[in-house]
Amino acid sequence: MTAVLNQPLAIGMMRLADYPELATAQQLLGLVLRCAEQGVTTFDHADIYGAGQCEAKFGEALAIKPSVRSQLTLISKADIVARDADDSPWQVKHYNSSAEYLVQQVDASLRRLRTDYLDGFLLHRPDPLMRVDELADVLQGLIASGKVRWVGVSNFAPAHWSALAAAVPLRCNQIELSLAAQAAVWDGQLQHMAAKGIQVMAWSPLAGGRFSSNLKQALQAVAEAHGATVEQIALAWVRALPGAPVCVLGSLRWQRISDAVSASALCLSRQEWFYLAEAARGHAVA
Ligand SMILES: NC(=O)c1ccc[n+]([C@@H]2O[C@H](COP(=O)([O-])OP(=O)(O)OC[C@H]3O[C@@H](n4cnc5c(N)ncnc54)[C@H](OP(=O)(O)O)[C@@H]3O)[C@@H](O)[C@H]2O)c1
Repeated sequence: MTAVLNQPLAIGMMRLADYPELATAQQLLGLVLRCAEQGVTTFDHADIYGAGQCEAKFGEALAIKPSVRSQLTLISKADIVARDADDSPWQVKHYNSSAEYLVQQVDASLRRLRTDYLDGFLLHRPDPLMRVDELADVLQGLIASGKVRWVGVSNFAPAHWSALAAAVPLRCNQIELSLAAQAAVWDGQLQHMAAKGIQVMAWSPLAGGRFSSNLKQALQAVAEAHGATVEQIALAWVRALPGAPVCVLGSLRWQRISDAVSASALCLSRQEWFYLAEAARGHAVA
C-alpha cells in the first residue's frame, strides 16, 4: 500500500490561538503559503481544537485563495466530546464513535474548513463503546461519499485497531511519539503498523519543548557533532524509526518550521540514536 503522506513533516493546528501574529486569515494564509513553498503541505486539525475555531480560521484563510486547497493535505479528527459540548444532563467529557455523531462532525469540519473533502479523517481516541461493524460502515460510507479520501485512527494500540483494520483500510495512526514518549518504540507497535501499511504520525515530536535537562545535554552533544540544532536532532531521532513517522510540528513560528524543514534529511548513526534513547530513558538497553 502506498503511503498517504509523502512528506517528513506536517503542521499541527492545535495551538493556532497561541500566535497573535496569525490572528487574521490573511496572516494565516501567508504561513500556509510559505509552508507549501517549502514542500510542507499537510495540516493536522481536529474538531475540538479551539472548539472548532482553529478549523474555522483555517477555512477563512483558504477562502481568500481557494486555489491553494488542491495543493494541501487536510486531516481532521473527531470522537472526543468536551464537557461543555455535552448537552446531556450529565455534562461529561466522553468519546462518541457512533455513526450519526461522526458524520455530523465530518460535515461540521467541512463547513468550517470551507472545503468539500478531507484528505484524511481520524478517530481521535479509542472509544471503549466502539462498535466495530457500525464504525467500519460509517468510515466506508464517508469515503464512498467523497467527503473523506482516506481514514485512520489516533492514539490506538494494535488491540484497538486490528479488528477495525480488517473491515476498513486504515491508512494512518497518529500517536504520541518522541524521545520523551517512547512506549511505541519498544513494544513492537511501530513494526506492526509498518507491516500492516499503517503510516505513523508522531504528535508532540518535540514533547512540547519539555525535554529533561539530561536529555537536553545529550541532544546538545549530538547536535554539535552534526552542526545542527537540538530540535533538528530530536526530529531526526523520530524519523529514524520503522515506517519513518511523519512529525506533526506544533509550533507555528516560521523560524522553527523552517529549521525543521531544512534538516529533514538529517540521519543519525545507530549509536547516536541509542545514546539519545538512553539519555531519555535514564538507563541502557538490556
Ligand atoms: N492526536 C492527538 O491526540 C494529538 C494530541 C496532541 C497534539 N496533536 C497534534 O500534534 C501537533 C503538535 O503537538 P505539539 O504542539 O505538542 O508538538 P511539539 O512540536 O512537540 O510542541 C510544540 C510546542 O512546544 C513549544 N516549544 C518550546 N520549545 C520549543 C522548541 N525549542 N522547539 C519547538 N517547539 C518548542 C512550542 O512553543 P513556541 O510557540 O514557542 O514555538 C509549542 O508550544 C498539534 O498541533 C496537533 O495537531 C495530536
